[in-house]
Parts: sequence; C-alpha cells; structure tokens
Amino acid sequence: MGQSFDISLESLRARSVARPGAAADIVSAASRDGGATFFLETFGCQMNDHDSEKVAGVLLSRGYRQVETPDAASLILYNTCSIREKAAQKVFSRLGEYRTKQSEGQIIGVLGCLAQQEGQEIFKRAPWVSLVCGSASYRKLPELLEQLETGNHRVTGLDTDTDETFETEITRRDNPWRAYLTIIEGCDKACAYCVVPYTRGPERSRASESVLKEVRQVAGLGYSEVQLLGQTVNSYADPSSRQMPFADLLLAVADVPGIRRVRFTTSHPRDFTPDIVAAIEAEPKICNHVHLPVQSGSTRVLQGMQRTYTRDEYLDKVAMIRSAKRPTSITTDIIVGFPGETEADFEETLSLLDVVRFDGMFAFKYSPRPNTPALSMRDPIAEEEKSRRLAVMLEKQRHIQAARQETLVGETFELLVSGKSRRENQWSGHTSCHRVLNFTSQERELLGTYVQVHITSAGPNGLMGEHVT
Ligand code: 5AD
Ligand code: SF4
Repeated sequence: MGQSFDISLESLRARSVARPGAAADIVSAASRDGGATFFLETFGCQMNDHDSEKVAGVLLSRGYRQVETPDAASLILYNTCSIREKAAQKVFSRLGEYRTKQSEGQIIGVLGCLAQQEGQEIFKRAPWVSLVCGSASYRKLPELLEQLETGNHRVTGLDTDTDETFETEITRRDNPWRAYLTIIEGCDKACAYCVVPYTRGPERSRASESVLKEVRQVAGLGYSEVQLLGQTVNSYADPSSRQMPFADLLLAVADVPGIRRVRFTTSHPRDFTPDIVAAIEAEPKICNHVHLPVQSGSTRVLQGMQRTYTRDEYLDKVAMIRSAKRPTSITTDIIVGFPGETEADFEETLSLLDVVRFDGMFAFKYSPRPNTPALSMRDPIAEEEKSRRLAVMLEKQRHIQAARQETLVGETFELLVSGKSRRENQWSGHTSCHRVLNFTSQERELLGTYVQVHITSAGPNGLMGEHVT
C-alpha cells in the first residue's frame, strides 16, 4: 500500500549497497592492490540501510574494496531484519545459499537484528558463519574485523548494554539525493509485539552538536535533503548540556546553509508534541510529512499492545497536525490480527481509516516474535483470518488513497528529481509531503535539481504531471 509514498520502512526487499556514484569518493589501498573485498546486502528498514552505509564506511577505511557480487568478495555480510518471521526466514534461506563459501576461503558475517536475536545460535544453524554482530556493537567492528583478519573463526559482538551510538568518520552514502542521519538509536518503548527493544537495545540519543556537525558535512558534500532517523525519532533527548528539544533540532538542521529539506522518521504518537507542529508550520524546509504509526484503531487492542495511547488520544494528535496552517500528510503502520483482536476491534481500525484518511499506509499481519510479551498472549488469530483482515484493510486504504489523489489534480508541487525513466522525457521525484510523482519534461538533465510540477492525472500507477518552467 502507499504506492505513491516512498517510505518502505520495513519493506523486505533485500538491497545490496554496492552501487557506484555515492558522495564519498574513497579510493582504498585495497582497491589499488586488489586486496580484501566485501559484499554487503541489507534487509529491512531505513535504519538498517543507513547502518550499512556506516559499516561500508568502516570497511572502506580499513582498506577493503566493495564489490557487486558475493562470489567476488572475501567478506560477505548480511545486515538482517527480524521484525517479522518472514524477514528472519529470508535471511536463513540466504545463508543456506552460501554454505560452501567458508570452505572456499570466504568469510561470512551476519549483522543487525537477526544477529542480535539469535546470537550464538546462528553458528549452530549455519556453522559456516564467522561473525555475528548486533547493531549496538557496531562500534566494535574494527576490533572484530581484526580478529577475523588474524584467523579467528567465531567472532561475536552481542552486547546491548551500552550508552554508545555508532558514529563513524566515514559513511559510504548510497543515496545520492538524500543523506540519512541517525539521531537516536534503540527503543525504550515496550510495544508487546515488537522485537526492536530487544534487538537494538535501549534508547541512546546523539549530542545535538554531533548531529549538526554531520549535517554541515553532508551539506558540504552537496546534499540538500537530510532525513533524521530513529525508531522513535521524536523521543530524541539531547544528552549534551544544550538539551536541545527535538523540534529545535529540526529548526537548527533546517538552518544549516545548503539544506533545503529536513525529514524525520519514525514518530511515536505519545511523544508527538505541539512544538513539532509549530516547527513544521514556521519553517518550510521541514518537510510536511509525518509518519505516525497507529497500529490499531481499537483502544482495547492498543492497551494489549502497550502503545501508551488510546484511539481518541491518537485522533487528537491527528487533529493537532491537521489544524496547522501548512497542510501536512500523515502516513501510518497497522498490524492486523494481534492476539485477541475481535471482529469489532478490527472494524474500529477500519473506521479509523475513514476518520483520518491517511495519505499512505503500511499494514502487516501480526507475527509472533521471540522475547516479546505478546508471545505468551492467549487467543491467537488464525493465519487465514489475518490474511482476510489484511486484504480488507488494504482494499479500504486503496480507495481512500485513490480518492485523495484525485483531489491533487491541478495542483503544483516542488519536486526533488531523483529518477529518470528509460522512456524519453519521463522523470520522477518526490514532494516535501513525500509523494512520488512521475512527470514529463523537455529538459535534458534534471537529476538532483528542484522543479515545479503541475499534476495532470491520478491513476493506478500514481500521480502524473508536467514540468512547469
Ligand atoms: N508483527 C507484525 N508487524 C510488526 N511490526 C513490528 N513488529 C511486528 C510484528 N511482530 C510493524 C509495526 C511497526 C512496523 C515497522 O512493523 O507496524 O510500526
Ligand atoms: Fe517497536 Fe514500539 Fe519501539 Fe516502534 S516504538 S520500535 S513498534 S517497541
């Protein structure tokens, strides 16, 4: 769902970060000598994507060269996701494909949430793996790599008891138009279904000055759009003596010369305060899009989920955002089939969609996860019933979105152009409110520039427009 939105937070598409053309132009010693090489594939969310950019930076600075295929690599790394069972299974099946690699002299490492969740078990299930490291231990990666390089075959970084964040000197940025910056790691919420507090450890915020220094750095590299990341980005608590509130940080980032757009994701409804709305209203550089996962429209289910807000409290936050002078799009995540969710609870979520009319939605079937409180909850919902509810939910949202998009025909939006189609004169880009638009233009080169686009039609493949010159 949400096909006109580009926020596939948990899309389980696997991505390799071996792509040329990133901002940091690093020529490593190894690339000149044809020495150690790495292949890195990423599963899961934007936090993982960005962690991979930093891991790649660490490897490049140690003289490794990045390659496009696992076969060409001396070190094969998987940055994994375990948010739902399917994501975890996918990693194990990928590992199965590489069972012969260790005997061929290649080193295989598992990073990220599945590494943290399974720990030493990974060595049992896939004995050809040599490195298992969760995200809270990435600071130790240079040490762990050294151990691997000196012939150690079982290396782990599994500590989550840390107050450190993973800051690197070099980040090998993969997205040429948008720079990601983590401002808060881990999660202190305790949603009953969620494995993240276990796999990513406790909440740790980065000092505001360190964030601003990185923003100045990426602006210097030519980035004009930055996206601040955190599992609960708006729970940011500046640990430095400045104690800069999240809304002030947004404003300070927007103030950095060269920055034209500031995004942030994911927001937790409980910590979504009026000063954030005021900042969006006051500063057009702060993007008018809020990803605000509701998870369920039933207060009873929200309580079972330990989401710390009721249906009405969520609706109050939506009303606060909608009352701003600047129209702001709101997208969400929903889980269907949480243990004990009755038909009446489900109907309440459907009715919430009617009330809010989200601009985009990701919906998931509840997936029981290890080490979560919901695992032991009674009254599970049958898989077929979860599938039915998911299909009904997606269909409803499809109608809502189609109707919303119709109303945009005739409007003009500013786009950051990020794609060029193979078809002549066809381009794509995203608006501040995070809609993806396809448009026609006679210009020869538009990638990375800002253009005005007039929307001419809305169809099943999203919004179409024309470049206004
Ligand atoms: N089952 C299904 N969906 C989940 N999410 C998190 N944990 C689970 C789970 N156990 C969803 C939530 C969250 C999004 C990133 O993934 O909707 O917002
Ligand atoms: Fe998981 Fe809830 Fe934390 Fe989000 S806020 S990462 S859903 S525990």
